[in-house]
Amino acid sequence: MENVKWVWKYIRKYKLRMCIALIFVLVASALSMVTPYVSGIIIDKVIKQSHHDMLLKLCMLMLAATIIKSIIRFSYQIMFETISQGAYMKIRESMYQKLQNMDFKFFDTTRTGDIMARMTGDMDTVRHLISWVIYMVFENAAIFIFAVTLLFTINWQFTLAMLLVVPFLAWAAIRLAGDVRPTFSAIREQFSRLNSVVQENISGNRVIKAFATEYIEINKFDKENEAYRQRNMDSAKVWSKYLPIIDALAGTLSLIILIVGGILTINNKISIGELVTFNSIVWALGNPMRNFGWLINDIQRFNASADKIREYLNNESAISNIEKAAKKEITGFVEFKNVSFGYDNDEVLKNVSLKAKPGETVAIIGPTGSGKSTLVNLICRFYDCSEGEVLIDNVNVKDMDLRTLRSKVSVAMQDVFLFSDTIEGNIAYGVPDAPYESIKQAAGIADADDFISSLPEGYDTIIGERGVGLSGGQRQRIALARAILKDPSILILDDTTSSVDMETEFEIHRTLRSFYNNKTTFIIAHRISSVKNADKIIVLNGGQIIEQGTHKELLNLKGYYYNVYQSQYGDFDGLDEKEVG
Ligand SMILES: Nc1ncnc2c1ncn2[C@@H]1O[C@H](COP(=O)(O)OP(=O)(O)OP(=O)(O)O)[C@@H](O)[C@H]1O
Ligand SMILES: [Mg+2]
Repeated sequence: MENVKWVWKYIRKYKLRMCIALIFVLVASALSMVTPYVSGIIIDKVIKQSHHDMLLKLCMLMLAATIIKSIIRFSYQIMFETISQGAYMKIRESMYQKLQNMDFKFFDTTRTGDIMARMTGDMDTVRHLISWVIYMVFENAAIFIFAVTLLFTINWQFTLAMLLVVPFLAWAAIRLAGDVRPTFSAIREQFSRLNSVVQENISGNRVIKAFATEYIEINKFDKENEAYRQRNMDSAKVWSKYLPIIDALAGTLSLIILIVGGILTINNKISIGELVTFNSIVWALGNPMRNFGWLINDIQRFNASADKIREYLNNESAISNIEKAAKKEITGFVEFKNVSFGYDNDEVLKNVSLKAKPGETVAIIGPTGSGKSTLVNLICRFYDCSEGEVLIDNVNVKDMDLRTLRSKVSVAMQDVFLFSDTIEGNIAYGVPDAPYESIKQAAGIADADDFISSLPEGYDTIIGERGVGLSGGQRQRIALARAILKDPSILILDDTTSSVDMETEFEIHRTLRSFYNNKTTFIIAHRISSVKNADKIIVLNGGQIIEQGTHKELLNLKGYYYNVYQSQYGDFDGLDEKEVG
């Protein structure tokens, strides 16, 4: 019932059209009665009572009824198709909007294959319900009711005898509905898994080729594919148990006609014509009964898919905008006050406090997995800290307008993602209407202008999905240019120059400093060369700040930073002495 309520939300706006379509269904169903009814009259009046002149008229009537019925049926089929396409689009829209509103945690924990399965197969089942199942239910119900009513007016005992099968039919239908639904849920679940395997295979195709593990992937797919076949067979086993029962019950109607109808005719309780009417209307009782089983199947298929879609739509983002949030300009004063955070139960950041003033460059260094990316992810609320607070210009980020916040903080992420678009489109991603000069300037700061200009199609070069066709360092520099073009108040570079040679990196940082003297910059890096010129260097280890200060101060501490320095510059002893001072 919840699923019906949910789908009603999307078809409600078509209620007028739906009413008209349903009236059409009623009219067409009523017109279906004309042929059987008139056949009876032809036998009784035309043949038995020799009113031969009526034959042509009655045949014309039958023909007209059939043609009109076909036209009306076609019209309501088109109407339902239109309604379903409209609703289908709306549901897709709300699913896509939901996707845009979800937070990092959702994407951390949800398989892409699941989302794709919701957006494709499950959605199609819903569309099928609206475009076909709804009118079929009405059509079959209407034909059944009209047929029963017509037969009642002819002979009620005969009709009741025919209806004897209905309770058995209802029993089979209820059993079928109950047993088949879980099998459809299992099919949908398995379809998600199959989808995930394919999606990961496509995304990871390079790793697969590099390790020559195609055979493992084929096995993995075969396993899921076989499981999918199995789930479908499980389902088929259930419905193939009940549908023949339903079919047989519908089939007994003919038998009842012969036995009961024969007896009644022999005893002159009904005329031959009436027996013919009964006989030719038997499809109007039998077909709805047969279709009943299939429709229940389709409805349960819809229920399984709608459950999944609703579950997906019910996801709530943990990161939400508060009403009346502060929308003011951001100057770039960043403060972490006793911040702790964990993705699950384990704390990744423990009681971190730090300050960064506008214009300052804060570098973060530390072993892999120490929480550097996590720390900066809290600034633009990719995650919310569990304890303490992150403040920008003395306002808790949770109290700021999310869009304003994110428009003023620019992050060049550790794992670069480029869209399959032109280089220009990728750089201008955050500022779609940026003039060419600004794009070129941002690329210049990121030291990307030279290599882009040397490409045959320059900024118009189309790059493949995820930036295929570019080197790692080139991709990083495009991502950097994209972050710079946004002209943020706070710039975060998460390992952004790790794939760039040291000289280029030095050049990038030098240019950045001259352009960014009024902005707050966070630089995460593993190389001392990337961090040594920062105003403040933070050393993070195990989610805690273990050292902080300038390059010189940290060397003098002779701690973690000094050791890293030693390992990177150990060969240049003279340099070491000079730097320690
Ligand atoms: N999305 C996530 N879900 C769960 N745990 C995560 C997630 N991202 C990171 N972690 C865990 O949090 C810890 C810190 O990760 P983080 O990415 O902040 O490290 P890092 O210092 O940036 O490392 P690197 O130098 O390798 O980039 C790691 O132990 C990691 O396993
Ligand atoms: Mg990281």
